[in-house]
Amino acid sequence: MKSASGFAAPGARQGSALNVAAVRADFPILKDSVHGRPLVYLDNAATTQKPRAVTDAVTDFYAHGNSNVHRGVHWLSQQATERYEAARASVQTFLGARSPEEIVFVRGATEGINLVAQTYGRARVGPGDEVLITAMEHHSNIVPWQMLCEERGAMLRVAPINDSGELAVNEFARLLSPKTRLAAITHMSNALGTINPVAQLVETAHARGVPVLVDGAQAAAHLSVDVSALDCDFYVFSGHKVYGPTGIGALYGKAAHLAAMPPYQGGGDMILDVSFERTIYNKAPFKFEAGTPHISGAIGLAAAIDYIGRWGKNAIAEHETALTRYALEKLAGIDGLRFIGTARERTSVVSFVLEGIHPHDIGTVLDQEGIAIRTGHHCAQPIMSRFGVPATARASLAMYNTRDEIDALAAALRAVVRMFNR
Ligand code: ALA
Repeated sequence: MKSASGFAAPGARQGSALNVAAVRADFPILKDSVHGRPLVYLDNAATTQKPRAVTDAVTDFYAHGNSNVHRGVHWLSQQATERYEAARASVQTFLGARSPEEIVFVRGATEGINLVAQTYGRARVGPGDEVLITAMEHHSNIVPWQMLCEERGAMLRVAPINDSGELAVNEFARLLSPKTRLAAITHMSNALGTINPVAQLVETAHARGVPVLVDGAQAAAHLSVDVSALDCDFYVFSGHKVYGPTGIGALYGKAAHLAAMPPYQGGGDMILDVSFERTIYNKAPFKFEAGTPHISGAIGLAAAIDYIGRWGKNAIAEHETALTRYALEKLAGIDGLRFIGTARERTSVVSFVLEGIHPHDIGTVLDQEGIAIRTGHHCAQPIMSRFGVPATARASLAMYNTRDEIDALAAALRAVVRMFNR
């Protein structure tokens, strides 16, 4: 068995059925009511709820461990530094990185992508060059590259998806040209649930000498990630989507890349020596962590990773995939319901429209039943355009969701259809 930070912590039951009732007992919010109805929380792609282990870790840090890191000789500061660096090691294990030095703490996936665009990207992308993304990216994996391309006179290329919401892998390969300086692809679409064949895409890109950034914002909670096996150059994810706090996430970068990249922001902790004449920068990852970091966030994220490890990623994934299948079956019979995104490889996200009913109306009626889903463009407007809809309704699942909750969703959707089609 691995350490408490790994996926096979003591007590984990890899491959066995997840004890969802026991999981639910760890999340106080799941016992709450909304509008007098039991909360059915199906907006996990936006953010996941937090187990007590995470909130306790954050509270305990502020109550008994609070101090700045990397700065003090006193006991509290050393303790805080140890916990912060232990959190980095947890993330290293979570992602399968070779060393903690390959892990940079950032605010979330978005900041991780911006960091790479503004440092690695700026140094590498010039006039006439290309950056390749896919048509199923979240805005956070589109706009930073658009900004970079605009600044550098480069071109953003987009690999298309098919009507099921699957990447056209051949087109992706065809669009890798001698001008491509970087490919940035999502591991899993937040709007469609599609899982991309990232290992194959990385291999294809590397065969043309193109480095790859993988956006793991959605995937990290649902899929096992091993950046060393994937061989991707960069991988980003957000803590709040893996049961951890908001405002913390991580960027994985291959050691050689991080060593060669210029810093992102200037300030304290990212330096070794400063004078008015010149500054000598710290080594990676500290070079990219200017200012006091989100210490409690990192500690909370490590607690979330431990929590996931207690149950085992395989058991969680198995439960979520089975529940996704169940949701697809339950919702398929509803009058006028059309799924947006029907990829074969998918999990945990069910996007749909109801004929003649605006998604926001669906969301508002469901809210009155205590059911939280997201409606809108999901920060992925190009996907909405691709499917010819302005918005969808999206139910997104996590380890604590149940068949009963899917039944409640289906019943509420039938009521919506009756209400609007009277
Ligand atoms: N990216 C988040 C979502 O998909 C906020 O809802």
